[in-house]
Amino acid sequence: TYEKVWLIAALVLIVGFIATITYGSVALGITMVGDQEETIEPSELNDDERFGEPRVEQVGENEYEAYVIAQTFTFYPDPIEVPADSEVTFYVTSRDVIHSFSVAGTNINTMVIPGEVSKMTVEFDEPDEYGVVCNEYCGDFHHTMEGLLHVV
Ligand code: CUA
Repeated sequence: TYEKVWLIAALVLIVGFIATITYGSVALGITMVGDQEETIEPSELNDDERFGEPRVEQVGENEYEAYVIAQTFTFYPDPIEVPADSEVTFYVTSRDVIHSFSVAGTNINTMVIPGEVSKMTVEFDEPDEYGVVCNEYCGDFHHTMEGLLHVV
């Protein structure tokens, strides 16, 4: 029947989308594993175990955690340095207004909302250098808000 044809066409489209996304990330040597959110008030950041000192920390043999703060018009730390052949879980929050944490040329692109922690796990295969940019309008110098991600 026609319904069946449409159903199959829709499925083919969906599979095609997923394949494109997967290919895009694998080709770059970066794989998003997952993401979810938790909360923290901007006023608590300075005393927080993780965000009091934005940094990358080793938590396992090839596992790292990166605690990142976005604040007009900078990302901390900058540069963010992670090893190749590693799995890095990013925890990103904002100290002031809404920003984004977007790694140019990859599918890493998350909104960064004050009061919330964006969490995403990424696998880095090969050494490279990426630009980190803010995709949410956050003020007069939004367009200058950028940082570096070094995979070493
Ligand atoms: Cu931060 Cu735009």
